[in-house]
Amino acid sequence: MTTPKKLFIKTYGCQMNVYDSERMAEALGGQGYVETRSPDDADMILLNTCHIREKAAEKIYSELGRYKGLKADKPDLKIGVAGCVAQAEGQEIMRRQPMVDLVVGPQSYHRLPEMEAKTRAGEKALDTDFPEEDKFEKLKGRPKAQRGPTAFLTVQEGCDKFCAFCVVPYTRGAEVSRPVDRILTEARDLVERGVREITLLGQNVNAYHGAGPDGSDYTLAKLIWDLDKVDGLERIRFTTSHPNDMTDDLIEAHGTCPKLMPYLHLPVQSGSDRILKRMNRSHTADSYLRLIERIRAARPDILMSGDFIVGFPEETEADFQATLDLVEEVTYGYAYSFKYSTRPGTPAAERAQVDPAEADDRLQRLQALITRQQRDIQNSMVGRTVNVLFEKPGRLPGQMGGKSEYLHAVHVADAPVGIGDIAAVRIVDAAANSLAGVIA
Ligand code: SAH
Ligand code: SF4
Ligand code: F3S
Repeated sequence: MTTPKKLFIKTYGCQMNVYDSERMAEALGGQGYVETRSPDDADMILLNTCHIREKAAEKIYSELGRYKGLKADKPDLKIGVAGCVAQAEGQEIMRRQPMVDLVVGPQSYHRLPEMEAKTRAGEKALDTDFPEEDKFEKLKGRPKAQRGPTAFLTVQEGCDKFCAFCVVPYTRGAEVSRPVDRILTEARDLVERGVREITLLGQNVNAYHGAGPDGSDYTLAKLIWDLDKVDGLERIRFTTSHPNDMTDDLIEAHGTCPKLMPYLHLPVQSGSDRILKRMNRSHTADSYLRLIERIRAARPDILMSGDFIVGFPEETEADFQATLDLVEEVTYGYAYSFKYSTRPGTPAAERAQVDPAEADDRLQRLQALITRQQRDIQNSMVGRTVNVLFEKPGRLPGQMGGKSEYLHAVHVADAPVGIGDIAAVRIVDAAANSLAGVIA
C-alpha cells in the first residue's frame, strides 16, 4: 500500500469558501490525499483565498512567503492558490511568487485532479475560467464519513448586483442556482451522516431560482419548504441575503416554517440614501426599514444581523449619522462593519476617497453602538428558555456548547446531552460572547 499524500488547506473569507474547501479536499481525496492540520508535513498546500478587502488579498502574499523555507527543504511540495484572489489576480500570483505551482479560480475546482497531476509532472497549472458545467456535480467522490451536527450547503453562486464597491460579481461570476433535486440529495446525505442543521449558502442566496423536479423555477422559500420535509433535519438557515430579494413567500416562511430558524443576516451597508444610490444598492434606508417591519410582523422574535461599510467615497458626517440612526431603529443582534477598502476594477475605486483617519473614527463609533446593542440583546436572553443544538464539549470539564435558534453561543455545565442533541435550556447568565444556561 502506498502512503497517502498529505493536503493542508487554509481557508480565508466567507462561508462559501469553507464549503468549497471541503469539496476540494474530497476531490483531491480521490487523488490519494488525506488532510493534515499542519503545513509542515504537507505534500500540497492550498490557500483558499478572499479578495473582498485589500488586507485580505495582501495577506495571501505574506502567507506564501512563509512557505518559502518549506519548499526549499522539500522540492516536491506543491503550492496552490484557490478562491477569489486566484480569480482576480491569476497569472500575477505566479509572477509575484514563482514557487506557486497551481492557481485555480472558484468555478474550476472540479478540474483540480487533472491540475494536480500536471504539477506532479513538473508543470504549472492555471485555470480561471467560468466553465458551463456544474462544478459541484463533477466534484463527486464525497467520502461517507460521519459529520458534525451542522453543515453548509451551497445552493447559489455568483452575483449580478454589482454594488459599486464589491469584487464578488467579478471573482464569482454571474448568478447561478443549483437544481433542487441535487440539493435535496446532498441534504439527505448530510443528514444520514449526522447533520441536524443546514445553512444554505449563496452570495445572493435569496435570489435562488433553481429548477424544480418538474423543471419549474423554484424560489428559496419553496426550497426551504422541501427541506422542511427531510426527516432528521431539524434546523434550516440561509445566508447571505439581499434586501431586494426578500420575496413575500420567504418572509411568510419565517413565520410558518417550523425548521427555519429566527435569524436573518440582511446587509444594508449604509443608512444614507445618497450613499446607497452611489453604492448602486437599489434600495433606500426607508424601504429596508419597512421590509424589516414586515419580517418582524411575520416572526416577531427574529434576530437581525447586518453588514455596514463606513467611509465609502464621498460619505459625509451627515451620511454617517444616517447610518447610526438606521442602526438605532433596527437594533441588531449581530452586525459586521468594515472600513471601505478600494478594490481595483470596481466603479467606486475611481471616486474621491474619505480621509482614512475620519473613516477610522466612524468605524469605532459604529462598532461601539453595535456592540452595545449586541450586549443588550444577549443580556435580555437571561431568564428566557431557548433550544440549543449541542455541537461540542465546552472549555471546562463536563461542559457542552452549542447554538440557540438565534445563533447565540450557549454553554451548559454538566449537561446530560450529547453532540447533535437539541435541548431546552434556561439562560442564567450573559458574558461578552456567550450565554450560560441550565437544562430546562
Ligand atoms: N453577498 C453578500 C456579502 C458580500 S461580502 C452581500 O451582498 O451582502 C460581505 C461584506 O463585505 C459586504 O456585505 C460588505 O459589507 C463588505 N464589503 C464588500 N466589499 C467591500 C469593500 N470594498 N470594502 C469594505 N467592505 C466591503
Ligand atoms: Fe457584493 Fe453587492 Fe453582490 Fe453582495 S450584492 S455580493 S455586496 S455586489
Ligand atoms: Fe471573499 Fe470571495 Fe467570499 S471575495 S467574501 S471569499 S466570495
